[in-house]
Amino acid sequence: MVDRIVDNYAVVGNPIAQSKSPLIHTAFAAATSQPLSYERIEAPLGEFAATVDAFREAGGRGINITAPFKLDAFAYATERSERAQQAGAANALKFEGDRVIAENFDGIGLVRDLVHNLACPINGKRVLIVGAGGATRGALAPLLGESPARLVVANRTVQTALDVIAPYAAFSGVFACGLNDLGTESFDVVLNASSAGLNGQQTAISANVFAANSFAYDLTYGKGLTSFLQLAKAAGVTRLADGVGMLAEQAAEAFLWWRGVRPDTRAVIERLTVRLVVR
Ligand code: ATR
Repeated sequence: MVDRIVDNYAVVGNPIAQSKSPLIHTAFAAATSQPLSYERIEAPLGEFAATVDAFREAGGRGINITAPFKLDAFAYATERSERAQQAGAANALKFEGDRVIAENFDGIGLVRDLVHNLACPINGKRVLIVGAGGATRGALAPLLGESPARLVVANRTVQTALDVIAPYAAFSGVFACGLNDLGTESFDVVLNASSAGLNGQQTAISANVFAANSFAYDLTYGKGLTSFLQLAKAAGVTRLADGVGMLAEQAAEAFLWWRGVRPDTRAVIERLTVRLVVR
């Protein structure tokens, strides 16, 4: 009997124990009969490149990258896709001999989750993104690709929001402002890409941004009803979602890129979904 050759992949971060990527990619591999292994690697801070060098020398074919290494991964690459360049960060690398190709599937994962899984079209809608960090940078081009009527980036630090939208000056309807400058305007889709909730802090936005038929989406996952989603719910919003679908969709895009086959994400999303209820 001939052993099947197994290709090795991994997710690299620090910390890494919490990562769901091994579970997701192992499920995708089983469902598509792809011969691969997928592990977690905790790279010491400041040692991303050395850690990835060692994984490649051992035959590794590709990695996902999570905090705090998405910028290091971008710098480590020898080639960068347009999406990675727009995000200024990489969340997936592919190794082909000496070539290291960088991609970023976070934004496309978000849009795919909204449009396909949650039946929340962006086309012609008024969209608000709260936060102007790496997650927002990665999301802007894919969101604008859906032709929203208006896209506002609101951030605690106004200058960061202005910097984030600067490459999109050619798009009409793209604006930046501070969290306190939102006024009384409401939005069809409100996305939370601020890390305030993760740090146990309140997202300081006015409930005015929500209308009863708004869609509220928190890019974090597995935290149940976050302070952002609680604010939306209290404002009468019934369509609430967290980022579990975005996580599964960006993983499916990476899997397709590495293996040439796109796995179905439904089973994984169902397995990882934490119900959005107050306990
Ligand atoms: P990520 O890669 O997850 O996007 P990041 O790049 O560190 O993380 O960005 C964090 C975002 O959360 C930023 O927009 C940050 O606002 P500033 O640009 O003003 O720092 C936002 N953020 C973090 N803590 C916040 C808080 N307590 N209130 C409001 N915004 C906050």
